[in-house]
Amino acid sequence: MSVRELIARKRDGGELSSDEIGKLIEAYASGRVADSQMAALLMAVALRGMTARETADLTLAMVASGERLDLSAIPGTKVDKHSTGGVGDKTTLVVAPLVAALGVPVPKMSGRALGHTGGTIDKLEAIPGLTTEMSPERFRSQVAEIGVAIAAQTDDMVPADKQIYALRDATATVDSVPLIASSVMSKKLAVGADAIVIDVKAGGGAFMPDLQSAHELARAMVDIGRRAGKQVVALITRMDDPLGTAVGDGPELIEAVQTLGGAGPADLVELCEILGGHMLSLGGAAANPDDGRERVRRALAAGAGVAKLREMVVAQGGRVETVDNPEALTAKAQRVAVQAARDGCVAAIDARSIGLLVRDLKAEAGERKWECGVVLHKKAGDFVRGEPLATVLAPKEMDPPREWATARLRGAFRMADSAPARPDILAGIVTT
Ligand code: URA
Repeated sequence: MSVRELIARKRDGGELSSDEIGKLIEAYASGRVADSQMAALLMAVALRGMTARETADLTLAMVASGERLDLSAIPGTKVDKHSTGGVGDKTTLVVAPLVAALGVPVPKMSGRALGHTGGTIDKLEAIPGLTTEMSPERFRSQVAEIGVAIAAQTDDMVPADKQIYALRDATATVDSVPLIASSVMSKKLAVGADAIVIDVKAGGGAFMPDLQSAHELARAMVDIGRRAGKQVVALITRMDDPLGTAVGDGPELIEAVQTLGGAGPADLVELCEILGGHMLSLGGAAANPDDGRERVRRALAAGAGVAKLREMVVAQGGRVETVDNPEALTAKAQRVAVQAARDGCVAAIDARSIGLLVRDLKAEAGERKWECGVVLHKKAGDFVRGEPLATVLAPKEMDPPREWATARLRGAFRMADSAPARPDILAGIVTT
């Protein structure tokens, strides 16, 4: 195989065969292809794209570079869930225990914060003592015993993705649909669930800026799943404003527990119902997604997922008191209330700015990073008459983040005289 010839062919808009892609990734993962050549190939892919067949081959070659979990001994249809990342997106912390409580096993490997978006693992690790570093055996047996585990990806899984992702980051080739789709799906396929629900976020607070690019990514991921013999449903959801009212690890964990207890904000509850409904339907615990959604709605109102979250926290070594009294997580944090520049109606909240603000607070926070965050008191469509828009939270030991945080938070709110039209959170569905 001449890597030079493969680069030239892709540069000129040609196709690579399954065998060529398999050998190339294997050679790169074992150090026999230089970063410079792989970087050139990635740029050619970013500019020329890949066919659905090439994208699936790339995904499977990356999966083959590392360890795969075998979950076949666990009875039932195992359903995984993935979000392409948004601001305030704590849906995994709600739907994973809830769907497990309703009888569908959920094996979930999650990531850490990326750019302006938070990561489920960071949020979960706000619980004292809780571990997300689990051996494959422990992960498997926890899913078999209690129906749910949320763990960090191990270093042995999809090492080719780690290498390629680092190279993409350094070569401005991150935002390529085949490269994102293969990166996400390789990690999903390595975990080995039977079915996957993917929340593809679109808008200013997401990696995909508009509905069209989100749709393209959704189609690419569903096609990979189909070719790999998995059932995949991709939901395209809007991510312009932050999801829910809490952003930041501790505040989001608190809001997730409140939502499981039946007291969540409307947009978060709606999205959890939609995602959970599809998960139950794929897992065979509901006749269809609408039926699943109704089951989730009733279970949320009854607080049915809280007991399952408690079980999961105990199994992963965490202090269960945090689930019983989550507000204690940020009880010692300093708080700065932010007033609006003027009265009126909140037309929009720039999710990306709020995500970046929380990231910057965490960077200065020292050990108690989970205390950093923003709690919104007003959402898009709400009227403001002298009340605060939001509160910034930070650890007590940190210098008060008053000036810069207040200015940036206020700048993230766009005010108007009348309420804007609010489109539905669900903008499309792509299935196998
Ligand atoms: N998340 C991933 O895992 N990979 C990407 O390429 C982008 C987001």
